Amino acid sequence: MIEQIRKHIEEAKQFSAQSPKEVEEFRIQYLGKKGILNDLFAQFKSVPNEEKKEFGQVVNELKNLVNEKVATLKASFENTAEVNSGLDVTRPGEIYELGARHPINIVKNRIIDIFSRIGFTLSDGPEIEDDWHNFTALNLPEHHPARDMQDTFFIEQKQDFGTDMVLRTHTSSVQIRYMEENKPPMRILSPGRVYRNEAISSRSHMMFHQIEGLYIDKDVSFADLRQTLSYFTEALFGKSKIRLRPSYFPFTEPSAEVDVYWGLETETDYRMTKGTGWLEIMGCGMVDPNVLKNVNIDPEEYTGFAFGMGIERIALLLYQIGDIRMYTENDIRFLEQFKSELF
Ligand code: PHE
Repeated sequence: MIEQIRKHIEEAKQFSAQSPKEVEEFRIQYLGKKGILNDLFAQFKSVPNEEKKEFGQVVNELKNLVNEKVATLKASFENTAEVNSGLDVTRPGEIYELGARHPINIVKNRIIDIFSRIGFTLSDGPEIEDDWHNFTALNLPEHHPARDMQDTFFIEQKQDFGTDMVLRTHTSSVQIRYMEENKPPMRILSPGRVYRNEAISSRSHMMFHQIEGLYIDKDVSFADLRQTLSYFTEALFGKSKIRLRPSYFPFTEPSAEVDVYWGLETETDYRMTKGTGWLEIMGCGMVDPNVLKNVNIDPEEYTGFAFGMGIERIALLLYQIGDIRMYTENDIRFLEQFKSELF
């Protein structure tokens, strides 16, 4: 008899439940009206006197054990969402659609990242700019023929406002703003929107994005410029072979266009480079001494280089985008292709 009860004790100790239902079944089995414990209590009368004490003890032990077990198992299920709300936690979750970054932003961020590794920090300026910062201080005085290089949007004419106000035609205006406010050495990168009043075609836009670089210090040389650009093209395109073609910008002397050697491995390479293997990616040069004088930096003591590139064009090359209009059409099939990009 007592052996039998000890067996029940062992069994109850081992018991574990997968659901509240199983706990309830366990409770009924032991504590229910027709349960094991009631049955044992009913037998108490017929137990021989000398065994009564021990019998009483083990039956109580079993009862306490079962009570405790039921309480803890119940509690363990009570806190689950399943019990509280009938929620099926095994159902697959809902999938949230994540957006994608615009390719212009991806490329801009990559360029910033590449230059920040060699000490360039960000700087910006206004898109509505005065004549001084967009032209004059950049060695483009009034009536300078090179002003025609950029088809400017004028906002205010001099006679009404004291100075011409324009939508900046390039991010070079930020060079001036930064140099006016800071002392060399300086190493800045300025991304931003620029505006030109050009005929709309698949190649041009009234608004596009540029990124400008400026480095001023003692003994900065053209070789430093070349090395910096080669580091950049290697980091962005995986191509470090570049060439600098003599060019002209009023604010740099000497000036150059930068071509990167893209290669002629595929048919696309042929098409993109028109069979030359070379692609033009930006303008650059040594900051003209006149520009330094305009912002009170002594050109005898300091030299520097500057470069500027169009982000649309770089992204076009990087992703082999066929038409610059894709940037602004907001076609989801185009934009979705950039989902996997990190930046
Ligand atoms: N500002 C020039 C442009 O808009 C690019 C440039 C920047 C060239 C800096 C030389 C140095 O085309």
